[in-house]
Amino acid sequence: MLAIESSCDETSAAVVVDGRVARSNVVASQVDLHARYGGVVPEVASRQHLAKVLPVIRDALDAAGCTLGDIDAVAGTRGPGLAGALLVGYSAAKAIAFGRDLPFLGTNHLEGHIYANWLVEGDEPRFPALCLVVSGGHTDLVLMRGHGEYERLGGTRDDAAGEAFDKVGRLLGLPFPGGPAVAREADAFAARGAKGFSLPRAWLPGTFDFSFSGLKTAALHAVRSGKYGTPEVAAAFQESVVDVIAGKTSRLAAELGAVEVLVAGGVAANRRLREELARRCPVPVRIPPARLCTDNAAMIGAAATYRLRLGERSAWDEDIFSTNDWSAPLPG
Ligand code: KG4
Ligand code: ZN
Repeated sequence: MLAIESSCDETSAAVVVDGRVARSNVVASQVDLHARYGGVVPEVASRQHLAKVLPVIRDALDAAGCTLGDIDAVAGTRGPGLAGALLVGYSAAKAIAFGRDLPFLGTNHLEGHIYANWLVEGDEPRFPALCLVVSGGHTDLVLMRGHGEYERLGGTRDDAAGEAFDKVGRLLGLPFPGGPAVAREADAFAARGAKGFSLPRAWLPGTFDFSFSGLKTAALHAVRSGKYGTPEVAAAFQESVVDVIAGKTSRLAAELGAVEVLVAGGVAANRRLREELARRCPVPVRIPPARLCTDNAAMIGAAATYRLRLGERSAWDEDIFSTNDWSAPLPG
């Protein structure tokens, strides 16, 4: 499976075998390009994807030691993401599939994040699994009963976890993207053994939903009070996010009788979150290595492989966003 991902600010192509092994997974990051704006500028992202998409595909084939002649199917991310950015990788993937008469699989980005767990060596994940998707755009708790069978049980009502990390990073004056920078400050503070302060948690009792906008405001007030330094606010913020996510995920896993917890998305790179999920969940927790947690094409290739095995493929007139409900089968 040749897979292409361009939903945000990473142009990526990968060659995936059997949905389990990434022969290559080339990621061209645009982070330096967007850093000076403090966020991803959609038009800049689209143009950079255009410049990078073909070289990245070539690199992915070369690194896998194969040519297009060895490819059996092609996958492209169809959303969610930035429309102009998505169109570049999606159209490239569709064109290659069409030109070579191969099956094409428009693939949901969030389903892709979950399938990063299939790219880790060892036994395949088992069902029913509780999936925690924590990215820049999503904080979702999803029950996965089998391949292609999902039920969303909770999600954020306002900011996604990664978005909150990024915004708090910005108000603390940390470099873009805020998530890793806030985590670094927070971990350094904790490593000094310093006693911090506490920020509120939005538990939203009786639901498995999340809310991080109030916490963001509380962090802003803490900064404006002048009483706390950057590392201290970062640590309090990270602890609050991690406590709520790990608390809700572990409780839901127990309630559902899930046999595993699968963690996915860029925020799954967070060390404290990994630690607390592993400590609190009643069942084994899988968390892919950081390079498979952030956006990459191999995860898209893995998800598409299992969809292909279910007999699915996308119609040529399928467009980005055309099937936004990722629990629904692909058309065609
Ligand atoms: O999944 P991803 O690469 O892109 C989306 O699909 O959104 O996630 C990116 C998000 C960003 O908000 C970034 O700040 C956050 O993941 N992130 C982190 C860490 N590494 C990346 N957040 C907290 N701690 C980290 N170590
Ligand atoms: Zn993502």
